[in-house]
Amino acid sequence: MSQSHQDLFKLVRKSRPSIRLMSIATGLSLASALLLLTYPLFTQLLVDSLGKQGWVHWGWLAAGMIGALVAGTALGGVSSVILARVGQDVSYWLRRTVLDKMIGLPVGFFDSGSTGDRTSRITSDCASISQLASAEAISLVNGIVMLIGSVIILLWLDHSMTLVLMGTLLTAFVCIGPAVAKLESVSREVQERSAELSGLVTQIFSEIRLVKSFAAESYEVERGTRVIQSVKERNYAAAKLRVVLEIIIGVGVAATLVVVLVYGGHRVAIGDMSIGVLTAFILYIFNVVNPLTQIASFIAELQRAKGASSRITAIFQLSDERDSDARGRPPETGVLSFESVSFAYGSTGDERGGMVLKDVSFSIEEGSTLAIVGESGGGKSTILSLIERFYEATEGRITYGGKDIREFDLLTWREMVGYVPQSCAVMPGTMRDNIAYGLRRKATDAEILEAAGKARALDFIKALPAGLDTILSEQGSNISGGQRQRIAIARIFLRDPAILLLDEATSSLDGETEQLVKVAIDSLMEGRTNIVVTHRITTVLNARVICHLHDGRVSALGSHEDLFADKDGGYARLAQVFIKDVVA
Ligand SMILES: Nc1ncnc2c1ncn2[C@@H]1O[C@H](COP(=O)(O)OP(=O)(O)OP(=O)(O)O)[C@@H](O)[C@H]1O
Ligand SMILES: [Mg+2]
Repeated sequence: MSQSHQDLFKLVRKSRPSIRLMSIATGLSLASALLLLTYPLFTQLLVDSLGKQGWVHWGWLAAGMIGALVAGTALGGVSSVILARVGQDVSYWLRRTVLDKMIGLPVGFFDSGSTGDRTSRITSDCASISQLASAEAISLVNGIVMLIGSVIILLWLDHSMTLVLMGTLLTAFVCIGPAVAKLESVSREVQERSAELSGLVTQIFSEIRLVKSFAAESYEVERGTRVIQSVKERNYAAAKLRVVLEIIIGVGVAATLVVVLVYGGHRVAIGDMSIGVLTAFILYIFNVVNPLTQIASFIAELQRAKGASSRITAIFQLSDERDSDARGRPPETGVLSFESVSFAYGSTGDERGGMVLKDVSFSIEEGSTLAIVGESGGGKSTILSLIERFYEATEGRITYGGKDIREFDLLTWREMVGYVPQSCAVMPGTMRDNIAYGLRRKATDAEILEAAGKARALDFIKALPAGLDTILSEQGSNISGGQRQRIAIARIFLRDPAILLLDEATSSLDGETEQLVKVAIDSLMEGRTNIVVTHRITTVLNARVICHLHDGRVSALGSHEDLFADKDGGYARLAQVFIKDVVA
């Protein structure tokens, strides 16, 4: 069994489709196949008895024929409904498990590849596996039983006639082989292009303000059109192939019919075969064609599901950051230190040049503030990401209370650390959900309002038409930037973490709002260990230690007075700019 077959098999087994329901469905499907196999026999007897036997005999045969047909079709229908249920169960399990797995992957996983691609793991890949595991699998079993059953009955009815029938049909099916293979690869391209299209469109709509402010509508439409065009071409190619397939199958069936009629007609004419047997043969043509198409569709679906399961298995093989053995409890308080930390994003760590942080060391005492300053791209936000354990230090270690932070239970550690990122994100949901976001316990409205008050967000929340129940739209486009920042601050007040990471946005807010945010931040920092990336001279001046980063290295570390004394140092130049700003 090839690797991709194994992946598929393991995934399906893990999803534990209900054996009971699958057995019932298989049983019903087989019963349906058997009934449908017998109805041409009833027809044969019926045709042969016409004019020879009495009405009663004829009536029984007709009842048998209709009964077999109706019951066979009905049982097949019930089996399909059960299978749909099993398929949905499998797809539910897969989607939930893949979502859970992907959400637990480290931030680094999300740095590469596209969101559209990741989304299609959960949407289309899971669907194609569940489709194969349920409906397609049973229809394959059903098709094989039908095919073998039909061939046995046909051989029993008439040898040479069976050879003629199967010979003609199989020739037609061999002819469609290359077209099926081509259709398969085109369908895969359709899927890939469609995923690309949905990824691009999602991106365009989520950044619609950027698109419009740069009058880039026509550029994006053009870019989208190119993808839409390629989806169209692939779909058109697939449609043409399907038509070709239908024609070949149609011609194959018609040719078989003609051959059977001519050859059978001749046999009937010379008295070698009854007209009933000929009728049965004609009906069996359809009993043989359907299984052949079912088998072909199974093979096509199998290819797709194998691709899907290889991609999902690759995700399952990545390690979930929550699964680490580190279960240590972080001490309540302690000194936070970087000890010769170097870090590279991705796997470029071997070459020194790829290092974003180089040999960074500093310590920050409990309850005091460390301000990180430096030019853009110097690695300031990266330091905060490392404390959050979004990434692991490539070299060196980060300690809290003397212990490596990698030894702590991840979720407990992150609960101790409050992070206000450079761009404050909001999640779709109400204002209440956003302030209480990720809180493990249930927060009362009074607590939420208290946190909002401390974050100076109460006034604008009260002014909203639905207050805490106001729905924040995707990316918070219905509130202002300063309001978003204050929601992020309120979130931290509610969690009340010991350590605060603050990445101040460079874009300045208007004076009054900035003042509000500033007051909120200052009160948020009280009584915590703060690591702040800041552009405000007052925060820098109030910090116990200032760390000046230059090109990923600590170029100066100490109090404002110490650093400012070195007039040639990078910090002094930076501070002069700050002070000029304040004076101006
Ligand atoms: N997810 C990432 N993957 C790869 N490289 C990254 C990633 N994030 C940042 N970098 C790179 O790391 C370097 C430091 O980035 P960082 O965001 O830490 O800078 P910064 O000092 O916070 O800058 P700014 O003041 O503009 O926010 C930059 O050169 C950046 O290109
Ligand atoms: Mg930054």
